[in-house]
Amino acid sequence: MTAEPRAPLPVPSPVQPSVRRPLSSAAVPAAPPPRHARPPLVRDDFTIFCDGVRRICGIDLGQYKRQQMERRVRTFAERQGAADLAAYLQRISTDAEELEAFLDRVTINVSQLWRNPDQWTRLERTVLPELMGEGRALKAWSAGCSYGAEAYTLAALCRHVAGPAGAGGARIEITGTDVDRRIVERARHGVFTADDARDAPSALLQRFFEPSPDGAWCARSAIRPLVRFEVADLLRIPPRHEAYDLVLCRNTVIYFTDEVRDALHAKLVQSLRPGGYLVIGSTERVTNTTGLGLVPAYPFTYRKAA
Ligand SMILES: C[S@@+](CC[C@H](N)C(=O)[O-])C[C@H]1O[C@@H](n2cnc3c(N)ncnc32)[C@H](O)[C@@H]1O
Repeated sequence: MTAEPRAPLPVPSPVQPSVRRPLSSAAVPAAPPPRHARPPLVRDDFTIFCDGVRRICGIDLGQYKRQQMERRVRTFAERQGAADLAAYLQRISTDAEELEAFLDRVTINVSQLWRNPDQWTRLERTVLPELMGEGRALKAWSAGCSYGAEAYTLAALCRHVAGPAGAGGARIEITGTDVDRRIVERARHGVFTADDARDAPSALLQRFFEPSPDGAWCARSAIRPLVRFEVADLLRIPPRHEAYDLVLCRNTVIYFTDEVRDALHAKLVQSLRPGGYLVIGSTERVTNTTGLGLVPAYPFTYRKAA
C-alpha cells in the first residue's frame, strides 16, 4: 500500500476578523453559519512535522495513532534540545544520525524471546505440526519483527517440531521485516540479552541459543540459516501474494489508526496462502474476519479459508 499524504486535521475556526456591521446589528442577530460549513483547514505544527518526516525518509507518522505518536515525538524533540518541532525537523533533515535516533525512538522496538509464551505453546502444539506435517516446507513472515526475537523464537520452534528428521530436510524460511533500519541490523546479529530470555523455556533456550559470559544468548547455527531480515515499511510494501504459510504480526498494529490497521490486516491475509495462519498480538483483534476470509482457529490465531 502506498502511504497516502495525511489529510490536514480540522481545527476550531479561528476568530473571524471584525467586519463593519450596520448600527442596528445588535437588534438583528447574525445569521448562524450554515450547518455543514467546514472549519477552515489549518495545518498545525505536528501535521507539518509529519509531512516533513515523510518527505525526508518516507515514513508516514500520520498513519499512527496521533495522541501517542505526538506525545512521543514532542517529548523526544524536547529532550534533544529542540526549541520546537520546526527546529527539530530542520535538524533531522540534515543530520542522518539524529534521524536514525529519532526513528528508533518513535518506532517502539520492545520485544523478547518467547514473548507471550502461551501463544508459542499453542503454535508448537497445533499450528506448526499441522503446517509442517509430513516434512512439508514452511514459509513464515514476522511482520514488524523488531530485533528478531520473534523470528528466532519461531525458528527454534520449527526446528523443534520438525525433530531430528527435519534437521537436514524440510525447508524452513522465516523472513523478518521492520521499518527501522537500525533494528533490522541488530536482528541480523541474533544476540539477545538475559532479560530477552526471561520467559524462554530453559531446555529450548539452551538447545538453540548459546550463552555467553555476559549473560547474553546468541542464536546457534541450527537456527541462524532459517531467518533473514529486510527493511520494509508495512504500510508501503505491496502484498506478498500468497507467499506464506504463516504470518505473525504481533504488537505492531497497536500503534496504527484503526483504518490503517484494518488495511494492513487485509494485506497480510493476501500474503497468506489458503489454509495458512495469521497470528496477532494478545491484545489485538482483526475486524471483519469473514470479509477477509479468515476463520478463528485458536486465540489470536486465524486460518485463511482454503
Ligand atoms: C513492539 S515491536 C513488536 C515486535 C514483535 N513483533 C513482538 O511482538 O515482540 C513493533 C515493531 O513494529 C515496527 N514497525 C512500526 N511501524 C512499522 C511499519 N510501518 N512497518 C514495519 N514495521 C513497523 C517497529 O519498528 C517495531 O520494531
